[in-house]
Amino acid sequence: MLRGTLWLLLLMPLRPPGTQGHRGAKSQGQAAEEPAPWPGVQRLQEQLRTVGALSRRYWTLFSCSVWPDHCEDQEAPAPPLGWSLPLWGRRSLDRLAEWFCRFQDCCARGGDCRISNNLTGLESDLHVRLHGQHLASKLVLQAVRGYLETPQVDKALALSFHGWSGTGKNFVARMLAENLYRDGLRSDCVRMLISTFHFPHPKYVDAYKEGLRRQMQETRRRCQQSMFIFDEAEKLHPELLELLGPHLEARVPEAQGAEPPRAVFLFLSNLGGSVINEVVLGLLKAGWSREEITLQHLETPLQAEIMKSADSSFGSSRLVKENLIDLFVPFLPLEYRHVRLCVRDAFLSQDLPYTEEALDEIAKMMTYVPEEERLFSSQGCKSISQRINLFLP
Ligand SMILES: *[C@@H]1O[C@H](CO)[C@@H](O)[C@H](O)[C@H]1NC(C)=O
Repeated sequence: MLRGTLWLLLLMPLRPPGTQGHRGAKSQGQAAEEPAPWPGVQRLQEQLRTVGALSRRYWTLFSCSVWPDHCEDQEAPAPPLGWSLPLWGRRSLDRLAEWFCRFQDCCARGGDCRISNNLTGLESDLHVRLHGQHLASKLVLQAVRGYLETPQVDKALALSFHGWSGTGKNFVARMLAENLYRDGLRSDCVRMLISTFHFPHPKYVDAYKEGLRRQMQETRRRCQQSMFIFDEAEKLHPELLELLGPHLEARVPEAQGAEPPRAVFLFLSNLGGSVINEVVLGLLKAGWSREEITLQHLETPLQAEIMKSADSSFGSSRLVKENLIDLFVPFLPLEYRHVRLCVRDAFLSQDLPYTEEALDEIAKMMTYVPEEERLFSSQGCKSISQRINLFLP
């Protein structure tokens, strides 16, 4: 249909303005010169022919990105102008395809085009954009890759991120959403729930339970692979935690051969943050390098701390007690050099020039603890991008 309209527009006869209807009023001499069209019109016709060729190429590319199968049997069509489209052209084409796919089922390969599972992208993001978290970076990639590459899974993957604020728990959750889903956090298949925002009042817990149950059912029904992120998990109401239990349990596959749906649950909390910091501080003072710290150093003290925390129901919930959480991921406290990298990234992401002095100055504005060593940023890399505004001319 789109194609038809385009051709219709291009095939419309072209005449210089004024050649129609006024002929009778013109002198004989002028009528005799009739066949020579205006030079301007000739140029326009040329341009339209180019546009015609271009739109054919755009059409081919568009239909290839929307219906990949349709493309393969055409044996790499060689359009007259070669394949190097201008960048803006490609971008708008991608936009158009994306928009089109919202209404139409696009992926002809039986896959779901909302799910991208780009593990290469995830690995690169964890490596390049996340600072000071060698342990979390390795653990998350291993766990997610293992889960997605297992042919038949019988349960959801549940990861629990622990650490002080600003250490990158949210950042990693977002990276996961962005690399596993075409639309990232806005995807139909991803739900991010923040305790103090979505479930602020304990007295409404029944309504929250109903809402959460419906939302989870709906999302899991619509998506073969869904993701649920619970931010501020330490503040989740015990009854909401209880509700999640059945979703994390292993279950018997329903039908033989049918691919069971997958789900990734992320719990983000600052539980155990202080104990992680204590262990890390102890190791650094004992002469270990940060990169030598492994899960073995942290696992036992972290789990003990989570389970004994009195002001949160998370540690005493079924999820923890019945080992429904697959992995507790510690996020280490950030040091000055990591904060400096975050500052640099903030400048780069806004396309702003920076100097080494500015990086130092902004990194120094953070508070470093403990009192004596002043080793760890108490806010991690939080609100760095707001701070750089103070340094703009
Ligand atoms: C995966 O992510 C990388 C890095 O962001 C990107 O270059 C690549 O094109 C992505 N691959 C797919 C298949 O989307």
